[in-house]
Amino acid sequence: MNLQGTTVVVTGGSRGIGLEVARAVLAAGGRVVLAARGEPGLAAARRSLAQASRENAATGGTGLGSGLEPPGPASAGERILTVPTDVTEEGQVAGLFTAAVDRFGRVDALVNAAGVLTRGGVTETKLEDWQTNLAVNLTGVFLCSREAVRRMVAQPPAEDGVRGHLVQIVSGAGVHGWPGHAAYSAAKHGVMGFSASLRDEVREQGVLVSDVLPGMTATAMTDLPDFASRNKLAPEDVAQAVLAVLEAPARAMLTRVDVRHRLTG
Ligand SMILES: NC(=O)c1ccc[n+]([C@@H]2O[C@H](COP(=O)([O-])OP(=O)(O)OC[C@H]3O[C@@H](n4cnc5c(N)ncnc54)[C@H](OP(=O)(O)O)[C@@H]3O)[C@@H](O)[C@H]2O)c1
Repeated sequence: MNLQGTTVVVTGGSRGIGLEVARAVLAAGGRVVLAARGEPGLAAARRSLAQASRENAATGGTGLGSGLEPPGPASAGERILTVPTDVTEEGQVAGLFTAAVDRFGRVDALVNAAGVLTRGGVTETKLEDWQTNLAVNLTGVFLCSREAVRRMVAQPPAEDGVRGHLVQIVSGAGVHGWPGHAAYSAAKHGVMGFSASLRDEVREQGVLVSDVLPGMTATAMTDLPDFASRNKLAPEDVAQAVLAVLEAPARAMLTRVDVRHRLTG
């Protein structure tokens, strides 16, 4: 997909991996719809994206973000929509996609990056923590994917035959166990099964489904004392992998991309 002029909904777009995905999409000339619960976080994300755009325009930068402020009316500020959304709430998710289509006309891609990490051995895990994990990391992916697919199959395809592309930000914990994080791992395994099933339901209708599995990445989620000595990816690294998935030739769907730090540990 050539991202120029496309609309990408990014859940969890207020910080971390989601924010960097949004920055990369804007740099490629796309529009972004950022969803998260916290309005201050969304406002800060919007400021950060617009600021990067202005700086690049001023310096004539050629690196990531240099496409943020192309000449013409569609400045980065006009290409960003923020919609406060809890992805576990069916009505709010429907409202997110309605707002996206009302503003930009269609939704070309959805990046499901909203997520939470609750921790603890199984015997200490409270039911409430288990349920929160599944609600955000799995049910949220279902609700957003369902709404996106409903819209995508009803819209005309792009020149390459693609009506839409879903990218799930999963985790290595979606294919391996992670002792001390069973609820998170269970939810992420669930996303892998959900994606594999959905992919074969919708591929013939022109909707692609891809899973990106990052290793540990330096975000608020992993800013924890016992992770301090780990080699962490930068969220920009994961964002570049997402862009590679979205921009791959339409004939070749990248179904699963593992992103690992080149060093161990
Ligand atoms: N960091 C890592 O090492 C790592 C590794 C592999 C996979 N991942 C996955 O990557 C994704 C992004 O993680 P991150 O590291 O970027 O985390 P992060 O920095 O903590 O960001 C999480 C984002 O999700 C949003 N969010 C949380 N609950 C939500 C809800 N109920 N509805 C809507 N938005 C919600 C947050 O905003 P609000 O709190 O304002 O809603 C925030 O924008 C997650 O799915 C995570 O599991 C992360």
